[in-house]
Amino acid sequence: MVAVQVWLGLGSNLGDRRGHLTGALTALAAVPGVQVLRVSSFHESELLGEGPPQGPFLNGVAELRTTLGPQALLGVLQALEAQAGRVRPAPRNHPRPLDLDLLTYGDLRCDTRELVLPHPRWHERPFVTGPLRELGVALEALPQRPGVAVVGDPQAFAAQCTEWLAGGCVVGLVPTMGALHDGHRSLMEIAARECDRVAATIFVNPLQFGPNEDFAAYPRTLERDLEVCRAAGVHAVFTPTPEQMYEPGFCSQVQVGAEAQGMEGALRPDHFRGVATVVARLFALARPQRAYFGEKDAQQVAVVRRMTRDLGFPVQIVPCPIVREADGLARSSRNVYLSAEDRAAATVLVRALRSARQQFLRGACDRDALLQRVRAVVATEPRAQLDYVELRREGDLAELPPGPVDGGRLLIAAKFAGGLRPVRLLDNLSLRPGPDEA
Ligand code: PAF
Repeated sequence: MVAVQVWLGLGSNLGDRRGHLTGALTALAAVPGVQVLRVSSFHESELLGEGPPQGPFLNGVAELRTTLGPQALLGVLQALEAQAGRVRPAPRNHPRPLDLDLLTYGDLRCDTRELVLPHPRWHERPFVTGPLRELGVALEALPQRPGVAVVGDPQAFAAQCTEWLAGGCVVGLVPTMGALHDGHRSLMEIAARECDRVAATIFVNPLQFGPNEDFAAYPRTLERDLEVCRAAGVHAVFTPTPEQMYEPGFCSQVQVGAEAQGMEGALRPDHFRGVATVVARLFALARPQRAYFGEKDAQQVAVVRRMTRDLGFPVQIVPCPIVREADGLARSSRNVYLSAEDRAAATVLVRALRSARQQFLRGACDRDALLQRVRAVVATEPRAQLDYVELRREGDLAELPPGPVDGGRLLIAAKFAGGLRPVRLLDNLSLRPGPDEA
């Protein structure tokens, strides 16, 4: 086999740091098929990122030449780490006696659960770039990976997800329409904690807007959105145009049922058909194991869950808690269009929901009395035009009959028309507070 040039990152911050690094290099040089060509001097650096209190690292780099394949070499490196006392799996950023990171392996690019080549962040790490420069390496000549891949072509997006799946990764999908705020960011961060790879999608989906709705005016802030994705740990962002998403002749849509009736479904005919269609298309392209949706759009979550079950997509739908402003207003991409007065008035939605919940927790359990309580609070705010308030069963949001309830979810929508254009806001609240709620 042809020998391949490899750059290795070395680190240790536990025990005899220098001894661990030199011991590993000596052992590596004795492995058949591995030559250690050059080693930088070792430098001290503090932990990058968050972790428990710990001492500084001793870091360096080494140039190898090897006839071992990347997986075989990785196996050797992990065995040396284990010999030095490193325990796997271990919590992220815990102190460790030995870190042997494959930075590059020739020009090879691979992205599996075990191994990403070139190392995704080597060029951002001073404890790697410093020693490389010291050895006279031209950094721009070494292969790098973009921090986050931005893909418009559906086939390229599908190919990226297929590569991850084939490499044993758990893939999480976060579908969005962009104009990302902290609510979206929290979906991405949850996905990044739970999955090996996260794909976010940014696509203002024309199918889910009615003829008189705000499709053209929907905020589009791609550059800022990509920053949010990067910071939240997303690996790839799918940003198709409508023509890429729906090729000429595209005419199949997902018919939705009971979950789409009433509330948003009544006010926005065809909205959920458009949502279900685009989400099904995204599931078919990405084939994620998990998909993340915000609970602010609770009816959307119920529709997507039903569609997923009915069509048999093997994906777990993960609803994520509503993210609120300090004054309680639910985060929404449309909040930016509220006039200052409407913005102040909009907190009436969450105040009304919380007030009804408080009554419920004090023993009031009549469905209509609770709904009346919400209406009464909203009526104190003349800027709010109530579209609906309903109390539905948790989960599938089925209608609850009049009379006593033992729980459920209050859902509300209202219009605020004091700005440049009318803004519709949604919110919802479970009658029973979750573990993280006040
Ligand atoms: O919630 C949204 O932003 C959209 O409805 C979704 C799920 C991305 C589909 O276009």
